[in-house]
Amino acid sequence: MVSGAASPAAGAHFAGAQGPTVEQQPLVPLPLSENEDSENLAENEDSGTLATLLFQSAGSGNLEEVKKLLASGADPCSHDKFGRNALMYAAMNGHTDIARCLLDAGTPWNTLDGSGKCAGDYAMEGVHESTFNLLLDKGVQSELIFGALEKNKEKSEFSNRHYLEERILFSEDRLLDGESKGIMMSWEKPLMEAHAKALCAGGGDILNIGFGMGLVDTAIQSYQPALHTIIEAHPEVYKRMISSGWAEKPNVRIIFSRWQDALPSLGTYDGIFFDTYGEYYEDLAEFHKWLPQLLKPGGIYSFFNGLCADNAFFHVVYCQLVSLVLSQMGFEVQFIPLPIKECLDEKVWEGVSHKYWQLDTYFLPVCQKADEN
Ligand SMILES: C[S@@+](CC[C@H](N)C(=O)[O-])C[C@H]1O[C@@H](n2cnc3c(N)ncnc32)[C@H](O)[C@@H]1O
Repeated sequence: MVSGAASPAAGAHFAGAQGPTVEQQPLVPLPLSENEDSENLAENEDSGTLATLLFQSAGSGNLEEVKKLLASGADPCSHDKFGRNALMYAAMNGHTDIARCLLDAGTPWNTLDGSGKCAGDYAMEGVHESTFNLLLDKGVQSELIFGALEKNKEKSEFSNRHYLEERILFSEDRLLDGESKGIMMSWEKPLMEAHAKALCAGGGDILNIGFGMGLVDTAIQSYQPALHTIIEAHPEVYKRMISSGWAEKPNVRIIFSRWQDALPSLGTYDGIFFDTYGEYYEDLAEFHKWLPQLLKPGGIYSFFNGLCADNAFFHVVYCQLVSLVLSQMGFEVQFIPLPIKECLDEKVWEGVSHKYWQLDTYFLPVCQKADEN
């Protein structure tokens, strides 16, 4: 899986983006609505009065007072003992103009409070559409800028070198890395089957990047593709593919390599699936640049959508970001919502050191390249 922005793409697989640059305070949230008293919430007594007034004014929708307080030196980044800042109070009460004013004054869009929520989560929970849209735009723009800056940085090492050299542990329902983090788990089988169905809808040649437990490849095989190419970089996963007979399947071609090294030798495909491990949004974005030459007109591309899967709002920001980038490349992008709460019993995570999925819905990306005809 790939996580968000500089975070290994979501969940297990792609650590997603090394996700938004996040500040986190180990605190617990407390609802503060327009009628509630915010006194004594400020963390520091000296700057506390201004900060407390700022939280109150933001929560109650008093834009003029917010502006005055900021002009008097109130810190737009200050937070109360629950880790909440004025932007969160504005967002939970749907005060879009105040949220805009605080963003302009320098409050980061992606600060997390003690319960792991950001302002966007509060806007989303309160169904405050315009505040939500404002924060979403801000998030996408910020991550686009962040991505552009990161692009210019020299990388001395590729993202998952350590993972590709370490021992991994196979069992019937999971594949774990050396730190007991889930590389792949069997609860994702229905998701992989849904991906395979979308990819194989038009038949033809299919490319899958990342074999893992072979769940998506098993599902792809059930559609009898003309040619099924699988790229896998971990030596132990590759060994297991060979010992379990994947190389003998007449329509299967296995490439033991990192996708980055295999790309120049690839052909064109009707369906492409991307699901690696220990890589980041930056790696996924790099792969996306190759899509126009790898995918046939009308072809379908999908990827394991674990981008920032530990925060609902960040997840939306990254879905939007991918959608924007791929649309600009001429793809029609859809996210199909699949409820997954039921297949995610807490017991699933026993013995796994990191719970890589925290959301109730999986948004399955289906990206179609325009058909020239
Ligand atoms: C999450 S698993 C894939 C799970 C798979 N979709 C399934 O249905 O079981 C990720 C796989 O990608 C492989 N991988 C990681 N980085 C890679 C890279 N750069 N190139 C190719 N394979 C990679 C891992 O070794 C692992 O087998």
